[in-house]
Amino acid sequence: MADRPQRLRRCQLSVPGSNEKMMQKAAALGVDFVFLDLEDAVAPSQKRASRARIVEALNGLNWGRSVRCVRINDLSTEYAYEDIIEVVEAAGKNLDVIMLPKAMSAADVQFVDKLLTMMEKKLRLNKRIGIDVLIEEVEAMMRVEEIAASTPRLECLIFGMGDYSASQGVSLKDIGGPSGYPGDVWHYQRHRLTIAARAHRLDAVDGPYADFRSPDAYREECRRAMILGMVGKWAIHPSQVEIAQAVFSPAPEDVKRAREMIKAYDAALAQGLGAVQYEGKMIDIASVRIVRNLVDRADRIGM
Ligand code: COA
Ligand code: MG
Repeated sequence: MADRPQRLRRCQLSVPGSNEKMMQKAAALGVDFVFLDLEDAVAPSQKRASRARIVEALNGLNWGRSVRCVRINDLSTEYAYEDIIEVVEAAGKNLDVIMLPKAMSAADVQFVDKLLTMMEKKLRLNKRIGIDVLIEEVEAMMRVEEIAASTPRLECLIFGMGDYSASQGVSLKDIGGPSGYPGDVWHYQRHRLTIAARAHRLDAVDGPYADFRSPDAYREECRRAMILGMVGKWAIHPSQVEIAQAVFSPAPEDVKRAREMIKAYDAALAQGLGAVQYEGKMIDIASVRIVRNLVDRADRIGM
């Protein structure tokens, strides 16, 4: 398994790369992960000029502890290769991750990987720029295992339910919003993507929720994604950031209980017991594996 950097992704905030004011605001929000967008949030007339605005924002603003990412245009466009070249040449030192939208296959991710490898050599960057991939086409969902295995540079799979809805023909009024479907309309897709991600030690992240004036509905979507093993959700507006970062942080009392349970289990093992009672219920090595996920999350956050 690849040795991947442990980055926080409880919230990935989308910021239009055409908008200097929003980029300035984003840098000050204390969000885990910011991606400056060259794709759908930017009109075609602004694509080229936005590269320079993004370079300026990456090099000029204080991003604190936020992971700095740029979402490029997809590989079927005329923009994608120059998005990477112009941004990485001018701001590679201040960039952590490239986000690839509408990946269709492992070969797409490998193209970005090879280009970045060449550029890191030329620019003598002594770090590895990561790749986050959006799974948002039915072809990509069918090949999600292959995409997850594409390259050690890959760090995260994101379920992009906006384009995915269009690709599958799902009818939703707003991106990520209520469907009227009996049950959770994204049950299968979130499960499938998260299984592929976990099998390759990647982060799984849930995509956008357009109705930013409905915090309770957004919180519920965060909760569903979190229960399935996803580590975070997108925000498209500053008001969503705190909600996601709270839902994807384990509660302090749960972390305390998890650490105590692990101790109790270790004590049982020392007495030659594999299964014991804890708070009136059975625990064994599987219980410890479950809570160890929680402790790992707490460690990554620094709790
Ligand atoms: N990042 C940083 N700042 C943002 C922001 C974002 N994604 N969205 C809004 N803001 C800022 C606004 O500039 C405004 O700042 P101000 O108070 O200093 O003037 C403040 O947050 C409140 O914004 P509000 O007035 O409620 O909304 P708006 O009309 O300015 O913006 C959207 C609404 C939907 C246009 C905006 O949130 C947006 O562009 N979101 C991202 C879209 C995107 O990236 N889509 C592609 C991925 S799905
Ligand atoms: Mg999309």
